[in-house]
Amino acid sequence: MPQLDDVIPVPAEVRPDRAADFTINPGTRIRAGSGAEQVAEYLATVLQPLVPVSVTSSPGDGGIALELTDEISGDEAYDIDIATRGVVLRAAAPAGLFAAVQTLRQLLPISAGDPVTLPGGRIADRPRFPYRGVMLDVARHFFTVDEVKSYIDAIVAFKINYLHLHLTDDQGWRLEIPGWSRLTEVSGAAGTGVDGAGPGFYTRDHFAELVDYAASRFVTIVPEIDMPGHVNAAQVAYPSLTADGAPVPQRTDREVGYSSLVAGAESTYAFVEDVIREVAELTPGPFLHIGGDEAQATSAEDYRIFMTRVLPLVGKYGKRAIGWHEMASVDLPDTAVPQFWRVEEADEGTARAVSAGCQVIISPADRSYLDMKYDPSTSLGLDWAGFVEVDRAYNWDPADRLPGVPEQAILGVEAPLWSESLRSMADVQTMTFPRLPAIAEIGWSRRANRDWESFRRRLAAYAPRWTAAGVAFHPSPQIDWP
Ligand code: ACM
Repeated sequence: MPQLDDVIPVPAEVRPDRAADFTINPGTRIRAGSGAEQVAEYLATVLQPLVPVSVTSSPGDGGIALELTDEISGDEAYDIDIATRGVVLRAAAPAGLFAAVQTLRQLLPISAGDPVTLPGGRIADRPRFPYRGVMLDVARHFFTVDEVKSYIDAIVAFKINYLHLHLTDDQGWRLEIPGWSRLTEVSGAAGTGVDGAGPGFYTRDHFAELVDYAASRFVTIVPEIDMPGHVNAAQVAYPSLTADGAPVPQRTDREVGYSSLVAGAESTYAFVEDVIREVAELTPGPFLHIGGDEAQATSAEDYRIFMTRVLPLVGKYGKRAIGWHEMASVDLPDTAVPQFWRVEEADEGTARAVSAGCQVIISPADRSYLDMKYDPSTSLGLDWAGFVEVDRAYNWDPADRLPGVPEQAILGVEAPLWSESLRSMADVQTMTFPRLPAIAEIGWSRRANRDWESFRRRLAAYAPRWTAAGVAFHPSPQIDWP
């Protein structure tokens, strides 16, 4: 049976009481307070394979109560009280109750048949950073709506609350844009994945379905349209977006830094505004990611001209711009969020953006990139930022990472997963797990509570849950798997 502190990310405060275990029996009631109905139904679905329970809105004693309260501050904060006579989950908002349920899940037995007993005691928990993300590259290899939904289900276990979708790149364009149908007809067709892999794009309805599904799990989608570089797929579909209007060949190799939108052409901004308007309309979340990385085919002056035109468009359609940190080479509005992704020890532009009031997302490639190989024997992934074993993903801190970027300037952390070498969800899972839990713990848990030996032990205890759920993970030799 799990101990009360066998939880990833490690909660802020845990007070076990071994005399207070609670057993869920067939017929145990889940009591949904006002506003807690949706999370209560989710909990019932989670419990169903272990023990049949029912949801009720009538107050009463015993069972598992979910309550909204103004005694807790912060939407994602929660507390859990497990006592012999019942369990109470409390939070200020449904997102906090959902986080509490994710904690509760890790305290349940893994398979049906065992008594469904929860370890007694109290947990009080809250996140360190508001943004704890993962990025999935669906441009290099496409993943279907159902695959992305399954990925969302796997990441929410670790209280990840943002899913950044890298929707466009040199190889493919994966989101339907009204008025620009060739983007997906041509660059979402068969052969547009790396090395000519299969077709795929999201229609507007598909994308809305993903956004809704993510929202039902308290995950916000961050759509990325990468520009002014990484645009060969757009230019294959619309040669008018190139400097001389001439067709360019389709590219499905892994090169970067060769394509650029034309900063000096008005037609560029007509295209970009249409895209930003449509993507903003499909996105209830506050952020729209405009890429901005590796624009080696754009001069520094053209990059400045381009960003100076495009950043206000993001604001015009009601969103905050996130961009890879190269974006911070221009003067940013304080609503913009540079995402640091490289391996250098400092970044002048990012520090300058912080001085101007910007928040930052921290994603150093040599710590948080889920597409880096674990070690030289890893068959999937890349190694340009070195090998990233589980301890390397865990033993660092975002507040120490960049001069001029202190704790208060950090919006959060994100673990990007680029898909050049990943063809299946099993590939994606193998690179994600067990490193995403390390990044999730860095993003959620108190710094003083983090400890590698404790993390190793909790990770080992978690692994049978992946196996039971059919989720692949890398059996790192650093962990004593059961
Ligand atoms: C990146 O890895 N090019 C952001």
